[in-house]
Amino acid sequence: MPTLKFAVLAGDYIGPEVMTEALRVLEHVAKQEGLTLAYTKADVGGAGIDNHGKALPDSTLKICSESDAILFGSVGGPKWEKLPTLEQPERAALLPLRKHFTLFANIRPGLLYRELTDASPLKSERIPNGIDIVCIRELTGGLYFGKPKETTTLPDGDIQAVDTMVYRKSEIERITAAAIDAARARKKQLCSVDKANVLETSVLWRKTVTAYVAKHAPDITLSHMYADNAAMQLTRDPNQFDVFVTENMFGDILSDEMAAICGSLGMLSSASLGAGKNSLGLPFGLFEPAGGTAPDIAGKGIANPCAQILSVALMLRFSFGLEKIARRIEAAVKKAVTGGTRTGDIAFGKPSVGTKAMTDAIIAQL
Ligand code: IPM
Ligand code: MG
Repeated sequence: MPTLKFAVLAGDYIGPEVMTEALRVLEHVAKQEGLTLAYTKADVGGAGIDNHGKALPDSTLKICSESDAILFGSVGGPKWEKLPTLEQPERAALLPLRKHFTLFANIRPGLLYRELTDASPLKSERIPNGIDIVCIRELTGGLYFGKPKETTTLPDGDIQAVDTMVYRKSEIERITAAAIDAARARKKQLCSVDKANVLETSVLWRKTVTAYVAKHAPDITLSHMYADNAAMQLTRDPNQFDVFVTENMFGDILSDEMAAICGSLGMLSSASLGAGKNSLGLPFGLFEPAGGTAPDIAGKGIANPCAQILSVALMLRFSFGLEKIARRIEAAVKKAVTGGTRTGDIAFGKPSVGTKAMTDAIIAQL
C-alpha cells in the first residue's frame, strides 16, 4: 500500500471546518486499510493573504510541488472582497494553481441521490431516479488564459477590453482523452458541447473531438450539442448527458447550472487533473468541493462536509489509484445521507445534524 503524500489547502471560512472532518474520515479509512498518511497543511486564499501577503504563497506552492496531490478546501469571502480583482483569493490562488500544474481536466460529477430529488429545483417527474452525470471541463485554456488579455485606451479616447479565446488541437485532444476515460468507466456515451455555428475555436474543437474519438475510441458513442442548447437540455432532461465535455468558459457556466439542478452544493466534489504524473506515475491532481466558503454559516458547525469527503474519494481514485477505497467512501456517504442523517442544506425541514455528527454517521458506515 502506498504512502499518501498530499498537500492540504483548507482555505477560508467553512474550508477548514469541512477539511478537518474529511481528514477524520481519511484517517479512519487509512487505519482500516493500512495506508500511511503523509500530508502537509499550507495556507491558501484569504489565509495566504493574511499570513503571507498573497493568496498563493511561495511556501504553499513548494509544498504542493513536493506532493502527489492537493486536497483543496475553498477560498475567498467578504473579508478580502475589496482587494483588486487580480489579488482576490479566487483569482490569485485557484487560477495560478491550475496554470502552474497544468490542471487541464476538470471532472465535476453531477450527482443527486434518488432520495434527495426534493433538493432539486427540477420537478421530480423529470428526475425520478435522481441525477447522475459528469461534466468534463477544459480548465487551462480558452478565454481564461488566452493572450492578449488587457484593457487599453484607444486613440479616440474610448476604452477597450479584450479576452482571447484560443485553443490548440493538442489541448483539445488531451481533454478528449480524459473525457473518453470518464465515458468508458460509465455508459460509453459522450456529448461534446461547443458553439461551432459561431466560434472558430469551436469548429476546431468539434473537428478534433470527432477525429480523436473515431481513431482512439470507436467504442464510444459521440454526440455534439451547441452550448446554448446544452444549457436548455440540462434543465429538461439532465440524465440524457451521462458524460459531457466542453471548453473552459462553457464548462464554468454549465457546471454551475448542473450544480443548481443537483440541489445542494454541499454534496458536489470535483477533480482537476494535471498533465503531469505524480511520483506514483498517476495524474497529479487538485481535489475540491464545489460549494465555496459559505461565510454566512462559517463557525456554526453546520456546514455539510460531504462534498469535501467525496473529494477525498476522488483523490484516492485518480491520484493514488485506490479505486476500491474511493468507492467505499462514496458508498458510506450515500448510505449515511439516504439513511436519513442530513445537514441543514439537505434536510428539507426535517431534523438536521451538524458537521461533526454528519461525519460520525459516515464513519459509522465505514
Ligand atoms: C469555478 C469557479 C472559478 C472559475 C472562479 C472562482 C475563478 O467559478 O471553479 O468554477 O471560474 O473557474
Ligand atoms: Mg464556476
